[in-house]
Amino acid sequence: MLIRQKRKSDALSYEITPQSLYLDRRQFIEGLGMAAGSLALSAAPLSHAHGATLPRGNGEIEGIVGGYSKLGKNDELTHLNAVTTYNNFYEFGTGKEDPGRHSGAFKPRPWQIKVDGLCANPGTLDLDDFVRPHTIEERIYRMRCVEAWSMVIPWAGIPLGEIIKRFEPLGSARYVSFETIVRPEEMPGQRRSHILPWPYVEGLRLDEAANPLTIMAVGLYGSVLPNQNGAPLRLVVPWKYGFKGIKSVVRMTFTEEEPKNTWQIMNPPEYGFYANVNPKVDHPRWSQASERRIGDFRRRATLMFNGYEEEVGQLYAGMDLSNYY
Ligand code: MTE
Repeated sequence: MLIRQKRKSDALSYEITPQSLYLDRRQFIEGLGMAAGSLALSAAPLSHAHGATLPRGNGEIEGIVGGYSKLGKNDELTHLNAVTTYNNFYEFGTGKEDPGRHSGAFKPRPWQIKVDGLCANPGTLDLDDFVRPHTIEERIYRMRCVEAWSMVIPWAGIPLGEIIKRFEPLGSARYVSFETIVRPEEMPGQRRSHILPWPYVEGLRLDEAANPLTIMAVGLYGSVLPNQNGAPLRLVVPWKYGFKGIKSVVRMTFTEEEPKNTWQIMNPPEYGFYANVNPKVDHPRWSQASERRIGDFRRRATLMFNGYEEEVGQLYAGMDLSNYY
């Protein structure tokens, strides 16, 4: 277990029932004067929370502030145990339990992120310098995998739009691409080149990246990201299928051309660039009309844009959404 044990008297987040933790968080958010159902997005809610620092090891992140979270009445937090044992992270193997089992030797520190391409202020930053200017917010989001399962995860992260501004993308930049680290000595899946072409890569249109819902997560359930969830830094784009959420990011590049993602490269007939959750457009192998929430028995209807249409629908005005890709 990668989550630090606390004193016995402290309630661990995974000892609290998911529903009561959710209610606690909602009260916290309301306490900050933000209606949980309204957009209170880009501004840092508490100025003293600026200058975020991440703990070494697997500890709790101090000073996380409540950010935008929009949940339906049937959305309960997925138990931490499921969030950390049912994963996709092919660098550690293709089975759902492989990332939890085989990521113990992975070292998420020290860590550097290179930012390059079409920007006026490129650079290679230590994780601490990458994170420090920002406020870390809690964002409770639904995550919908293209394999038709879903979870509700309380992330701790930084709005990607705020990160991007620091690197001053040029007017010609229209996209941002991302790369996962290549470290076959610590990632057994990368020692088998037939699994995927490494590194795992992803991309977003710049306006998608700057949408206030998009975050770079550094934690979940209040603590730093476990290795299997993409330590120390991963993308979260809640209205897109989960594969867009690239893990263990070491590089961001501003480009003029639409970047390809790993699944597009692997299987172009099945995967495209946008991958917006859409119940009306089936994947060749999975109906997308409904999904199984991990922890539930019954399936539930999938929501357009995973329930975030109000926030992101305008990004695709005029596009033919009947096309999955
Ligand atoms: N990132 C990398 N580098 N490698 C991967 O295999 N899998 C993706 C995405 N990010 C993947 C990745 C897929 S298919 C999904 S559904 C999500 O991570 C799963 O995130 P989780 O394991 O934290 O739930």
